[in-house]
Amino acid sequence: MHLAAPGPNAEELDALIKLAARVPDHGKLGPWRFVVIDGEARDRASAALEQVIRNDEGVDDARRDFVRGWFNRAPTCVMVVSSPRPSPKVPEWEQILSAGAVCFNLILAAHALGFAGSWLTEWPTFDERARTALGLASQERVAGFVYLGTPTKGAAERVRADVSARISRY
Ligand SMILES: Cc1cc2nc3c(=O)[nH]c(=O)nc-3n(C[C@H](O)[C@H](O)[C@H](O)COP(=O)(O)O)c2cc1C
Repeated sequence: MHLAAPGPNAEELDALIKLAARVPDHGKLGPWRFVVIDGEARDRASAALEQVIRNDEGVDDARRDFVRGWFNRAPTCVMVVSSPRPSPKVPEWEQILSAGAVCFNLILAAHALGFAGSWLTEWPTFDERARTALGLASQERVAGFVYLGTPTKGAAERVRADVSARISRY
């Protein structure tokens, strides 16, 4: 993941999350929340995931070991949780999009402070048992696990979508 220590300290993380939360948010519902997984909490959260897959078919010792180190791949992980509120006015879709904006805003803020970020979902997002183990309620979803740390190398350029083929005029 190329994210080494140091990650943001408590004060920096507080500032990053406050910046990340400054997103378009129809109805000012704040339909998201943040779960910080850093320090020794990384071991506890990883162990919770390992418990989830421990006895699954096809899971061997190597996989169990890998999952036991899941959150230790970076100094800090911020789980951005999409937490839609019942609203007669604001569709759930808009609330989910707002959570996506939070994830990207968190990455922009982290880069502005000299850190780097990686927005991943991976299997825990799509495994209800994992979501429960990480403390999500049934109506909540993981918008992203945003991993934060100090970049060990510059971001590689990659193939970009052909934007011109995706633009039309109505
Ligand atoms: C919602 C969302 C989920 C993502 N989940 C993953 C993932 O699980 N695994 C992965 O390799 N990349 C995932 N990505 C892509 C990475 O964030 C990133 O774009 C990719 O690693 C390429 O890096 P770059 O965009 O800096 O070039 C996801 C992106 C988004 C927007």
